Amino acid sequence: MKSLLKSLAVAAALVIAPQVSEAQTYPERTITVVVPFSAGGPTDTVTRLVAEAMSKDLGQQIVVENVGGAGGTLGAGRVAGADPDGYTLLLHHIGMATSATLYRKLAYDTLNAFEYAGLVTEVPMTIVGRKDLEPADLKSLVDYAKANKDSVTVANAGIGAASHLCGMLFMSAIETPLVTVPYKGTGPAMTDLLGGQVDIMCDQTTNTTKQIQGGTIKAYAVTTVERLEVLPDVPSVVEGGLPQVQVSIWHGLYAPKGTPAEVMDRLSKSLQVALKDQNVIDRFAELGTKPSPESDATPAALKAKLESEIGRWKPIIEAAGQYAD
Ligand code: MLT
Repeated sequence: MKSLLKSLAVAAALVIAPQVSEAQTYPERTITVVVPFSAGGPTDTVTRLVAEAMSKDLGQQIVVENVGGAGGTLGAGRVAGADPDGYTLLLHHIGMATSATLYRKLAYDTLNAFEYAGLVTEVPMTIVGRKDLEPADLKSLVDYAKANKDSVTVANAGIGAASHLCGMLFMSAIETPLVTVPYKGTGPAMTDLLGGQVDIMCDQTTNTTKQIQGGTIKAYAVTTVERLEVLPDVPSVVEGGLPQVQVSIWHGLYAPKGTPAEVMDRLSKSLQVALKDQNVIDRFAELGTKPSPESDATPAALKAKLESEIGRWKPIIEAAGQYAD
């Protein structure tokens, strides 16, 4: 009997040993970070900067895979169903929280499908228009939108996107539904705004700052209380009379549920290193944002943020009555 128990103990140790060693030697191969929107947009921009710095820290290549569609929920679903080995990650924003209410048939259970590495950054938004749009300021844009509600087009990246959320707040604030034009990301939406194919958009400074500074699009407001250092001539929504349209877009780094704790700890520590990388700090500053503080780049902080934001946006979305299905 004793020899049987001994051989069972040895067998059990052999079974457990490889899993512990895989987590302990992580990462051993290329990591994929899914961006749930098109390339060239704000989420893609943030992800590529952070991934480059994390790659240096981890000593492994990190590739960015753009999986757009359905306001970010297709990309999130792709990661929710991936192997929980630390080699498929998701960098997503506030849409993780709003989609939990907007989509009543999500392919994943938002609060039980992911492990958390930490918060990454919180990005302000801007209400922008095509260069030759008539209104010169936010107040006249509101009047123009009300007078032309059946023709004014608002670009967004699909229900659940940050641009959708801000557009919803704008249309609720002016009590006027406008014509929305969905894209797989605000990267391609910006192309059409620059080309004059769409009238307005509410998008993150990580995608609009350079265009506004270059005068290739019109800027009506920033969605923060105070003006932004990088856009000193752009009034805030509070100055423009739309305090209801205050919104900033927090981003988090996730992995599939079941990813080993040691792997999540390694990823969280690497994220914290990346957020102190001078290139990340400088590029974020040029684009109107900054890295999350180290205390927020933790699993607990991201989990708490997601939970509180689901609760915060649920009644606002229900009041607007806009759902994906
Ligand atoms: C993007 O990266 O394309 C944007 O974050 C889409 C959005 O959320 O508006």
